[in-house]
Amino acid sequence: MMKVGIIGCGKITEVRHAPEYHENPHCEIAGFYDVVPEKAQALAKEYGGKAFASVEELLASDVDAVSVCVANRFHAAISIQALKAGKHVLCEKPMATTEEDCEAMVEAAREAGKYLMIGLNQRLAKAHVKAKEILDSGEMGEVLTFETHFSHPGPEGWTGQANSWFFDKKTAQFGVMADLGVHKTDLLYYLTGKKIVKTSATLATVDKRYPDGRLVDVDDNAIALYTLETGAVGTMHVSWTNYGAEDNSTKLYCQNGVMRMYDDPTYSLIVEKKDGTVVPYQLDQLTSNKEQTSGGRTSTGIIDAFVDAVVNDHQPMISGESALHAMKVIFANQRSSESGQAELVK
Ligand SMILES: NC(=O)c1ccc[n+]([C@@H]2O[C@H](COP(=O)([O-])OP(=O)(O)OC[C@H]3O[C@@H](n4cnc5c(N)ncnc54)[C@H](O)[C@@H]3O)[C@@H](O)[C@H]2O)c1
Repeated sequence: MMKVGIIGCGKITEVRHAPEYHENPHCEIAGFYDVVPEKAQALAKEYGGKAFASVEELLASDVDAVSVCVANRFHAAISIQALKAGKHVLCEKPMATTEEDCEAMVEAAREAGKYLMIGLNQRLAKAHVKAKEILDSGEMGEVLTFETHFSHPGPEGWTGQANSWFFDKKTAQFGVMADLGVHKTDLLYYLTGKKIVKTSATLATVDKRYPDGRLVDVDDNAIALYTLETGAVGTMHVSWTNYGAEDNSTKLYCQNGVMRMYDDPTYSLIVEKKDGTVVPYQLDQLTSNKEQTSGGRTSTGIIDAFVDAVVNDHQPMISGESALHAMKVIFANQRSSESGQAELVK
């Protein structure tokens, strides 16, 4: 039985980490920590375990693993502290706020001989898993071009706070580019298995405002034109100003046809072949932010995958190392937006 401690007791812990660890039969929640003690106490009351008084106290306990669910700026320091204390770590996305910190997290896991997993749950969505299986079979040929979208009305609908850390450049580093863009950048890499080598990106703040009317410090819209190592080109559009229905769709245009994911209300994957055949798959629908915040929840599978890696002692599928590429692309997007030029991904 794996014992887990959860650091950071905000929305993602409330709707995902706490309930999904609680439901996992191979895991026991040993306790919670948050800088706001009442938050840890409330979750300990609901799910069992104790409310720890500090990160140090939690790490000195007999937990095997921790979830790091704090604001972005603190991901690296807490994850590294936990790894050095001999704990496996599931850290929420985006991995960290600097490239050096992302690399230091991977190095800390290697040195400690512990697992580091990043919460890039889009890889586990059923239509993405099926699409990857089809792409890997070679049946669709190479991906030639693509478009991927992730947009919703913004994090204030998620946290319930009009002025949260999500809008603070020092704490979040990026706005929508890291919040949603890291998911889709990682997804493109995961699905195609090909690295993004060049990007032309624009990060913009067009509408999201603090309660006093000033525009927020971080990007609320971002568009990137990516070139893959194969020469395939495509776009990613992420937005916090989509005040209509959430868009979580991806289309891959391949040599032998088109794969459409999450752009149809019934069929989460539709494969349109060059010869005219259409194969619709009714697999699942992604839970929107709106549904999650109102209590509607379907397991993303991320917690179960982490518990399985720890209990059965194998590298998690979304290891820190495999999540590094998407972060490098996100930092290249930032450089490109600042320079106004295409940037190579280092
Ligand atoms: N995988 C996903 O799709 C997904 C979805 C939402 C959020 N997230 C990520 O989860 C993380 C948390 O987001 P959230 O929506 O829960 O935010 P939130 O603001 O609701 O919660 C953050 C919590 O962390 C606490 N905290 C902040 N700094 C801390 C520190 N140094 N030590 C201990 N506690 C600290 C805050 O008091 C708060 O309770 C973010 O990195 C976010 O990007 C991931």
